[in-house]
Amino acid sequence: MAATSELRASLTDPNLLREAAWIDGAWVSTTTTEEVVDPASERVIANVDQVDKREVTRAVAAASKAGPGWRAKLAHERSDMLHRLHDLMLEHAEDLAHIMTREQGKPLTEARGEIRYAAGFVRWFAEQALRVYGETIPSPKPGARILVMKQAVGVVAAITPWNFPLAMIARKLAPALAAGCTVIVKPAPETPLSALALAELTRRAGFPRGVVNVVTGESAMIGKVLTDSPEVRKISFTGSTAVGKLLMQQSAATVKRVSLELGGNAPFIVFDDSDMTAALDGLMASKFRNAGQTCVCANRIFIHRSVYEPFAAALIERVQALRVGAGTDEGSEQGPLIHQRAVEKVEEHLAQALAAGATLRCGGARHSLGGSFFQPTVLTNVRPDMQIARDETFGPVAPLIAFDSEDEVIELANATEYGLAAYVYTRDLGRAFRMSEALEYGMVGVNQGMISTPVAPFGGVKQSGLGREGSHFGLDEFLEVKYVMMGGI
Ligand code: SIN
Repeated sequence: MAATSELRASLTDPNLLREAAWIDGAWVSTTTTEEVVDPASERVIANVDQVDKREVTRAVAAASKAGPGWRAKLAHERSDMLHRLHDLMLEHAEDLAHIMTREQGKPLTEARGEIRYAAGFVRWFAEQALRVYGETIPSPKPGARILVMKQAVGVVAAITPWNFPLAMIARKLAPALAAGCTVIVKPAPETPLSALALAELTRRAGFPRGVVNVVTGESAMIGKVLTDSPEVRKISFTGSTAVGKLLMQQSAATVKRVSLELGGNAPFIVFDDSDMTAALDGLMASKFRNAGQTCVCANRIFIHRSVYEPFAAALIERVQALRVGAGTDEGSEQGPLIHQRAVEKVEEHLAQALAAGATLRCGGARHSLGGSFFQPTVLTNVRPDMQIARDETFGPVAPLIAFDSEDEVIELANATEYGLAAYVYTRDLGRAFRMSEALEYGMVGVNQGMISTPVAPFGGVKQSGLGREGSHFGLDEFLEVKYVMMGGI
């Protein structure tokens, strides 16, 4: 059976598997296609149409044309449509999870969790659509009034990564639509199928043509067309710091609004007064979710010297028990990495750490399953100057660093250009506050290893990005503030 037919046949609703771009309310096929590869089997599972410059420009024009009509809808009409999309996502959750696991590799349990997470953003912003409130300000002049209103930014380009193929789209698309913006989504080339399935659901939910567009194709070309266009008023990007900087530069000529959710180098700090079981639970979730391929993954694990060895021993026991396997095997807890380049980066970090004196305690090599499967790994005797502690590894490796004092660990944790997420485990209330305030990060989990939720502002400081996603702050990113001075009253 051809690869695409096999995936299609495994779905309850085969029409969710789309291989064409979605522009101006129509599926657009092209002469050039790109293979989508299942990282578990390394087999081709689909061939997705690659749009050219002309089609990207057409998507921008369609979004621009659809803007006034979409903005003019009543807030509750936009809200109702988002609620319909949320319901459709949950109704088709199982198919969406299968598509995601096949193109991205994550275990089905995680893919199902991501569908709920993504749908959660759509529901949250369906509700927030009703609450785009303005203000009045007491006037400094007689006979005048000051009104503040919030209006949609305009056409939005949402450029999204492969590690969360649906949730990263939902948390840009839903607030943009709620605010009254129209959107062009550019998914990662590795995982376009989840984005196209979502486009199909927006069609079924009844979004008017041009309001949602999904363009698949060469990333640099699409990014350039979107950033060069004066009609695109906002770029919202999740991905690497290097690409984020490039998009920011390219957006300067048209002074676009830019939201960036970029790389991280999360410290995970365990004090000697912690609940060790809770810290282990949190670390397993933070480090090994999505095989370590998240921007908020623990990347440097600082353990107080007095509990370092018992903590390492307990962690190794848990890590060795992780079941590695294809995401589609129920019970699998760690899938493959996205591709060979990802494995090579993990190998490079490991080799450098071992050469510089780190100790390999478990894992440390490609998995016997082959392909891009990698053994869950623990390293001890890691020092902060090693590459593994300076750069984001984006893989299933836990490097443990010993520390002696609160001041020392704050300095070590902040010694990075990144500032996305940080985690602290302590039962000392004063220390919990001191640490939360001292850590130069956009998000801090205190006694929590999983901090992502649609209701809280996700985002970083320093070179981890600009802006916030999720929560009411996430809606403001898609709204302009306009003030009106009314005289003659
Ligand atoms: C990311 O890795 O960029 C997002 C992770 C999340 O939303 O939890």
